[in-house]
Amino acid sequence: MSEITQLSLTRIWVTTKHINHKCTQMNTDILNNKESFQILEIKDLYVNYGGIEALQNINLYINNGEVVTLIGANGAGKTTTLRAISKIVNPRQGKIMYSGRNITRRQAHEVVQLGIAHCPEGRRVLARQTVLDNLLLGAYIRSNQTEVRNDIQQQFEMFPRLAQRRHQLAGTLSGGEQQMLAIARALMSKPKLLLLDEPSLGLAPTIVREIFSIIQNLRARGVTILLVEQNANLALQIADRGYVLEAGCITLSGAASELITDERVKKAYLG
Ligand SMILES: Nc1ncnc2c1ncn2[C@@H]1O[C@H](COP(=O)(O)OP(=O)(O)OP(=O)(O)O)[C@@H](O)[C@H]1O
Ligand SMILES: [Mg+2]
Repeated sequence: MSEITQLSLTRIWVTTKHINHKCTQMNTDILNNKESFQILEIKDLYVNYGGIEALQNINLYINNGEVVTLIGANGAGKTTTLRAISKIVNPRQGKIMYSGRNITRRQAHEVVQLGIAHCPEGRRVLARQTVLDNLLLGAYIRSNQTEVRNDIQQQFEMFPRLAQRRHQLAGTLSGGEQQMLAIARALMSKPKLLLLDEPSLGLAPTIVREIFSIIQNLRARGVTILLVEQNANLALQIADRGYVLEAGCITLSGAASELITDERVKKAYLG
């Protein structure tokens, strides 16, 4: 099936919306039967930090080529969801399927090799390394140095500010530039699925617009994106679908175009 047909079918199927108040989320979407389109599927996931139950009974899926957003208040479990996918934390219970493989018990580096990149909350660039070194670090799993050099060039084309600052220490970049570097570094592993945690946090509106246009650009290039954002309005404007997390549970999910007009979402997250 052609990519265009896949995308248009996706758009028809993603309109299902369901609400769940008791954290006993039922995976009722008809897309469940269309696994060939799913790049990621999380089933009945629980994550604990010691005695704290950070995630309970999480069920979500992402189709190839989608931008899916995860919104929720502070402490809702958004970062933990991304950490569970990139294997920074191990689930207590549940299953994570990626491209038809069970990755629930894989190690973090294996998951990167399989095509998942995590751009973390707070950017976490290596402050005392140059922009170039940070990018090379993102390519640590790759052995073809010619390809790596070409991809660095590609990042510089996408992020001209980084090109001008390639020999500058990352710690001396502005917040927006550090965010761009964090995204570019994540892209250096050539991910099929990019996990983006709060890319707009603390940035001026013009830079936020720039970052969001980069996200749209990446989607146009075929990168599937799971976007965590406190700016729910912006996130829902560019996403295909969204999930609302409350105190470790998914309470609402559906097409972004429906969530953005949902009274509960408006009241709680769109101010
Ligand atoms: N390393 C940790 N040790 C113990 N508890 C943690 C740890 N990390 C997160 N938690 C707890 O897990 C819950 C979910 O945290 P998480 O960081 O996933 O939330 P979040 O939705 O990303 O919040 P924010 O919007 O503030 O980034 C919170 O109650 C938090 O206190
Ligand atoms: Mg977080």
